[in-house]
Amino acid sequence: MKPFTTKHKYRYLRGRLGPCIDIKSLKALISSDPSSNSKSDNVIKHAESDLRLRDRQPSTPWRTRDSLSKSRRSPSQSDFSSRYVIWLLIQVAVVSNTISIAVLPHDSYGRDHGLFIGDKLPFVLGSSLAGIVEQLGPESDSTFGIGDRVFGISDVTYPTPDQAGLQQYAILKTDAIAIVPKTISSDEAATLPVNIATIAIALFTKEFGLNFPAPWENEPFTFTDEPIVILGAGTNAARLFTRVATKVLGVKNVITVASLSNKTELLEAGASYVIDRHLSDDAIIAEVHEAAGGQANVTRIFDCASWDHHLAAALFATDKPSRLSTLHPVDEAKVRETRPLCKASLVLMTNGNLGSHARDFWQTLPRWIEAGIVRPTAFYTVDGLDEAKINKQLDEYAAGKGLTHLIVHP
Ligand SMILES: NC(=O)c1ccc[n+]([C@@H]2O[C@H](COP(=O)([O-])OP(=O)(O)OC[C@H]3O[C@@H](n4cnc5c(N)ncnc54)[C@H](OP(=O)(O)O)[C@@H]3O)[C@@H](O)[C@H]2O)c1
Repeated sequence: MKPFTTKHKYRYLRGRLGPCIDIKSLKALISSDPSSNSKSDNVIKHAESDLRLRDRQPSTPWRTRDSLSKSRRSPSQSDFSSRYVIWLLIQVAVVSNTISIAVLPHDSYGRDHGLFIGDKLPFVLGSSLAGIVEQLGPESDSTFGIGDRVFGISDVTYPTPDQAGLQQYAILKTDAIAIVPKTISSDEAATLPVNIATIAIALFTKEFGLNFPAPWENEPFTFTDEPIVILGAGTNAARLFTRVATKVLGVKNVITVASLSNKTELLEAGASYVIDRHLSDDAIIAEVHEAAGGQANVTRIFDCASWDHHLAAALFATDKPSRLSTLHPVDEAKVRETRPLCKASLVLMTNGNLGSHARDFWQTLPRWIEAGIVRPTAFYTVDGLDEAKINKQLDEYAAGKGLTHLIVHP
């Protein structure tokens, strides 16, 4: 993680205020914050220049909760900037049981360290969402109609927060969403998009993942007998990976390393082995190698939770090409010090990184859900843009605590 600079400090304080930021409350928070130090003046300067910039941009108005509930505006034709956009109505406290935004671990990195946000302040969090289509872009295809229940991901690289979830409307691209199957609620649907799209990138892309042929490519899948090891398998991402690898692709040996409290769920998802992640490294390595039928068979690892990838490196075969895909940044050069034939990369979730798979993936996902292959993950709900509750969840993600994910009804 980057050091906590003045800019990060400002970003953190902004995060504490949630999406309803205004200069008066920001200044009050800065001056009352016990951790403020001599750099506070600089922090306030950041705030003032940010908010001045915001005030000069009437085309992308900042939406406060007050203004949202008082003026639910419909999008105008001039709001459409690309041919594949649709409007998704996020109904503020009207029919909140059908409108849902997931607040996920990466949102805490966004709040505290600017992940995906960088200098695009002010910004809005929430990129895994479900809602109701309010209006179609002029050239969108016939896949979606007004009133459809849809779920999907925001483009986190988009230069403005118009695609983000924790606000009234989000403009989404039609190749980054799908119709919510009738078998699940909007809350359940919102638990899925970010993690399941990440899994598709991890499984089917060459640049970031394991480069398996995707089901929509009609190529034979010839890897069913080759084991895959998952580290950090207590994560929701790992459970989804296991389900797709075993139930869609037919991989026969998925070896998972997680707290044993996950055992029943991982076996049900299709894992062949659940090895206790709290054992010593030596014991984990011995058990994984035995489960794989020998160290020489360990050539594919998906690491969902580590920030340091020494364990993955030690697990790999020593003299075969191998592939490490991770959900946190990985230092490939470091891994190659002991495994020179290993290609290691971060699976970075953006719809763009799905590449040519994007449209097929989103069209296939509802069928996987209806068939029970992909299941919503556990969640609890908060009604309204409750700054304290949302920040508490973000604080816990930031502290690395495993916890049930949050779905917000804005
Ligand atoms: N790169 C990307 O684009 C991308 C996309 C999606 C997610 N992510 C990141 O991937 C991670 C997983 O996401 P998620 O939503 O699936 O998380 P999650 O469900 O909230 O994961 C929580 C679980 O992680 C496990 N865990 C925590 N620290 C661990 C450690 N040091 N070693 C092994 N396991 C550990 C714990 O499982 P136990 O029960 O075993 O203790 C905990 O219950 C998050 O950090 C998230 O930000 C990255």
